[in-house]
Amino acid sequence: MTGVDWQTAQEVARQQMPVGVFTHCEATANCALELSLVYGVDPEPARLAGLLHDWCRAVDDATLILRATEHGIPMDAVDLMAPHLLHAQVGAAELRSVFPGIGEGVLRAIAKHTLGSPEMTDADMIVYVADMIEPGRRCTHVQGLRESVGKGTLFELYSAAYAATFFELVETRRHLHPVTVDSWNSIVDRISAEVIRS
Ligand SMILES: [Fe+2]
Ligand SMILES: [Fe+2]
Repeated sequence: MTGVDWQTAQEVARQQMPVGVFTHCEATANCALELSLVYGVDPEPARLAGLLHDWCRAVDDATLILRATEHGIPMDAVDLMAPHLLHAQVGAAELRSVFPGIGEGVLRAIAKHTLGSPEMTDADMIVYVADMIEPGRRCTHVQGLRESVGKGTLFELYSAAYAATFFELVETRRHLHPVTVDSWNSIVDRISAEVIRS
């Protein structure tokens, strides 16, 4: 259950988002649907989160900071240096009013699609990966991730995607958000725990 009619969401998103963002969101939704089917996850929350995940992607930096303040979203120094990161959490906060009754799992996946989190649900991981590998994406490492789909667990795919993001941040000399560090450490902890169990 997503709490939102798919066609209504699609129409509202089409009207709200610039065409390029909407095209990416539709592709992310389709990719999230495919990944859900591959990994045996309820597809509807991930698909809707994919469709709406960049609801605030076109909002300018100053407005994102203002809206984050209004919504009581905590901000780190890195958020203020790279305010576009806030589009995930601000988008989730605003969608709660746009679509009353929207599922918490949908909002959660939207809020976590930029930085991840130390605790990722299956839907969160699917939306994170779908955002990176939808067919319109041309980033480094993307082809390798696409080829990994279905060859291991969803967590393995997500951890490879997260590592690729982490590498790119380091290679391009960008700041690491504290949530990125915590998320990466939690991935390492889980990998270590799985090695010990096996
Ligand atoms: Fe985004
Ligand atoms: Fe995106």
